[in-house]
Amino acid sequence: MTRVSPQASAGNAPARRRAAATRAVADAPADPVVVRPVRRADLDQVIEIDASVTGVEKRSYWLSILRRYGDVERPERQFLVAETNGRVVGFVIGEVRDWEFGAPPCGWVFAIDVAPEFRLGGIATRLLRALCVAFRRSGVRKLRTILARDNTLILSFFRSQGMMTGPFMPLEMDLDA
Ligand SMILES: CC(C)(COP(=O)(O)OP(=O)(O)OC[C@H]1O[C@@H](n2cnc3c(N)ncnc32)[C@H](O)[C@@H]1OP(=O)(O)O)[C@@H](O)C(=O)NCCC(=O)NCCS
Repeated sequence: MTRVSPQASAGNAPARRRAAATRAVADAPADPVVVRPVRRADLDQVIEIDASVTGVEKRSYWLSILRRYGDVERPERQFLVAETNGRVVGFVIGEVRDWEFGAPPCGWVFAIDVAPEFRLGGIATRLLRALCVAFRRSGVRKLRTILARDNTLILSFFRSQGMMTGPFMPLEMDLDA
C-alpha cells in the first residue's frame, strides 16, 4: 500500500512549472542523479526524508523495512534510492506479490518519497522507472498501488506515470472488541 502522508494539495500546474523553472536555473547545471539499491549507510537519510513527510521518526520500522527489502539477492523485493552528490534525496520501495485478488503476480509500489527541496526535478519518475525495470526482470507485467483518496499530490504523480483506476477496490471495517 502506498503510504498516506499529510500532504498539501498538488497545487496548480503553471505555478509548479514556474517554481521548477526557477529552481532549475538556480541549480544549473544539475548534479547527476544515480538510482541504486539501498545500503545500510543510507538509512539515516531515508528516515530523515520520511520524517520530513510524515512528521514522525520511525527508526525501528525502517530497520525492519531495510531487513525485508534491502537484500539484493531477492530481486522480487526492491528498495531503491536516488543519490546526488553523495546525498540520498529519494527512495522507492515495492515488491512482486503472488496471485493477490486471484490475478497473476504483479509489482506493488508501496512507498515513494523525494526530499522536499529536490522535488519536481524528475527524481520520483526515475525511481519508479527503475522499479518497473526490476519488476519486468522478475517477470511481471502490471504495476499496482493503493493510495488515500485525498492525497492529490501522489495521485497526480502516479497519473503522470500512466497509472489509472484498476478493476479492484478496497473494503475495510473496524474490528471492535
Ligand atoms: C509525490 C513525489 C514522490 C513526487 O516526486 P518528484 O520527484 O517531485 O516527482 P517528479 O518530478 O518525477 O514529477 C513527475 C510528475 O508528477 C506530477 N507531480 C509531481 N509533483 C506534483 C505536484 N506538486 N503537483 C502536481 N503534480 C505533481 C507531475 O505531473 C510531474 O510531471 P511534470 O513536472 O512534468 O508536471 C514527491 O512530491 C513526494 O515525495 N511527496 C511527498 C511524499 C508522498 O506523499 N509520498 C507518497 C506516499 S508514499
